[in-house]
Amino acid sequence: MTPQHDPPWWQSAVVYQIYPRSFADADGDGIGDLRGIIGRLDHLAALGVDVLWLSPIYPSPQVDNGYDISDYRDVDPLFGTLADFDALLAEVHDRGMKLVMDLVVNHTSDEHPWFVESRSSRDSPKRDWYIWRDTRDGAEPNNWGSLFSGSAWEWDEATEQYYLHLFDRKQPDLNWEHPPVRKAVQDIMSWWLDRGVDGFRMDVINFISKTSGLPDAPAIPGRRFVVAFAEFADGPRVHDYLAETTLAVFGNRAGDFMTVGEMPGVTPEQARLYTDPERGELDMVFQFEHVSVDHGAGGKFDYRGLDLVVLKKALHRWQAALADTGWNSLYWNNHDQPRVVSRFGDDDPAYWAASAKALATILHGMRGTPFVYQGEELGMTNYPFRTPQDHADLEAVNHYDDVVAASGDAQAALAGLAAMSRDNARTPMQWDGGPNGGFSAGTPWLPVNPNHTWLNAEEQVGTTDSVFAHYRDLIRLRHDLPILRDGVFTPLLEDDPQLWVYTRTLPERELLVVANCGREPRSMEICPDWIGSALLLGNLLGTPTTSTSAILDLVGWDARIYSRDS
Ligand code: GLC
Repeated sequence: MTPQHDPPWWQSAVVYQIYPRSFADADGDGIGDLRGIIGRLDHLAALGVDVLWLSPIYPSPQVDNGYDISDYRDVDPLFGTLADFDALLAEVHDRGMKLVMDLVVNHTSDEHPWFVESRSSRDSPKRDWYIWRDTRDGAEPNNWGSLFSGSAWEWDEATEQYYLHLFDRKQPDLNWEHPPVRKAVQDIMSWWLDRGVDGFRMDVINFISKTSGLPDAPAIPGRRFVVAFAEFADGPRVHDYLAETTLAVFGNRAGDFMTVGEMPGVTPEQARLYTDPERGELDMVFQFEHVSVDHGAGGKFDYRGLDLVVLKKALHRWQAALADTGWNSLYWNNHDQPRVVSRFGDDDPAYWAASAKALATILHGMRGTPFVYQGEELGMTNYPFRTPQDHADLEAVNHYDDVVAASGDAQAALAGLAAMSRDNARTPMQWDGGPNGGFSAGTPWLPVNPNHTWLNAEEQVGTTDSVFAHYRDLIRLRHDLPILRDGVFTPLLEDDPQLWVYTRTLPERELLVVANCGREPRSMEICPDWIGSALLLGNLLGTPTTSTSAILDLVGWDARIYSRDS
C-alpha cells in the first residue's frame, strides 16, 4: 500500500507472475528454481514488466505445489536457499523491477509447527490457532465442502475433534479470530519486507473471516457437501483484519509497495471497499467473474464453452464498478487457469498468434493493472492431455476420481480436465525448440508441451511481429500513455457476439480499441470523428496506419487501438 503518491506507481505498472516450479531449472532436477529465474531475468527486462510475483517458494510438503507452507521464513530446498533468494532480489532490483511474494495465510500446511502443536492436545497453547469443532450428531460440524472435493472437515482421532480445511486436508485453516494469529502474520510480512521485498499477493484472502457460527450452506440436492463461497468468504471481520494488518505492516514503512488480494467469489461492491484507498486495506483484488463464465452449475470442470457477450459484460461490469473508487487488476491467466489462447482465443496454428495478441490488446487496453502469467507473453497453449495419468494437480485428480465414482463417465471427466485443469498453466516454460524446451537438463516434473518446437521464446524475442513483441509493445504503451491508466472506459456494441469494442477517454485524447474475436471477417462502422485517426497498435502486419473511411474491415482476430485528440 503506498497512499503517499498520487497516482500510485502500481497503477501504471505491469506485473509478471512466475510459477517457480515451471519457469527455469538451473540444477537439472526437473523442477524450476531461484537460480533458474536469475538466469532468465533478461527475458523479463526485455518484456518490460515492472513487478515480478513469485508463487510460493517457502518450505512445503508440496501437496498443493507450495500453497501449503510449513515454514514462512525460509526457502524450500527444491527452489534453493535464502542466499539464492537474496541474490535474486538484488538482480531484480538492479534491473529496476520489483518483487512481490505470495503470502498464503488463510491456511498453513498440517506440517507447520503451529499445526503440529495445535493438534497435539485440546489444551495446547496453539489449539485456538486453527478452527477445531466437535462432531454434530456424530458427523461433520457442518455441510461445507472443500474446494478440492469432499468435506471441509477432517477428523483428528487423537483429540476427537474436527478441524476445518477449505482446501486439502493437509491445508488446515488458520483461526484469524485469535489475535496471536494476526500478529504472527504481520511479523512474517514485516520479516520479508525487511529483507527487501516490495509487497504481497495474498492467497484467498477474503476467506480469512468466515460467516459467524459456521452455519450450514443451503443444501444442494444430491450433494452431501457444498462448496459454500457465501459462507467462506467476505465474513464479518474481514475488513477489520485487512485494515489492521496493513496498518501494522505498512503504517510506518517508507517505500513503494503493492498488495493484491486473491478473492474467489468477491462482488464488485465488496471490491470497492477492499480497494478504496481511504480504508487502507488492499491496493487491488483478483476477482473471478470473467474466468467463471464458461462453467456450468457443476463447477469449473463443467465446461460449457464461451459466450463472448457474457465474457465482455463480466469484465465491463468491473470496469464500471471500480471507475471512481478502488482499482482493478486485469488478468486472463495465472497458475490456476487454463491458457487463455486455448480458452477464449483460437489455438489453431492459423489463428493462434493473432488471437493471443487480440486478447492481450483487449485486456491491456482496460483500466487497471495488467498481470501477465509466465508463457502468456509467448501465447503458450493448453497441453494435449489425454489420460488421467497426464494430470498432476490434486484438484484435477480428485475431480476425476469423484466423477468416475459417481457416474463412471470417465470420458466426460477427461474432457473437463483437458479444458480446465490447472496443469494446463503449469507445464514448463518453452524457452527454445530443443530438448525439454530449454527448461531443464533433467526430466521435467510435468511434460513440456510438444508445440515447443515452434512455440518458444527463442523464436519470438527479437522477431518484430511475435506475440512477445506485441506484449512488449502493449506494456510500453501502458508506461507511456497516462490515458491507459486514467481514461474513462466506455463499452460499445456490448451485445455483438463477435466484436469487442470500447473507448478510453480523457478531455484531450481518446482511444478506440476494437477486436474481432472470431475467424470470420467483420466490418464495423465508426463514427465520423474517428476517420483519419492514427493506428497506435495493431496485431497484424499491413494494417493501414490511419483509419481512412467510416467502415473498418476487420479480418479474423484483427485487433487495433486507434488514437485521436479530442
Ligand atoms: C489459491 C491459489 C491456488 C491454491 C489455493 C489454496 O487459489 O492460487 O493455487 O491451490 O489458493 O491455497
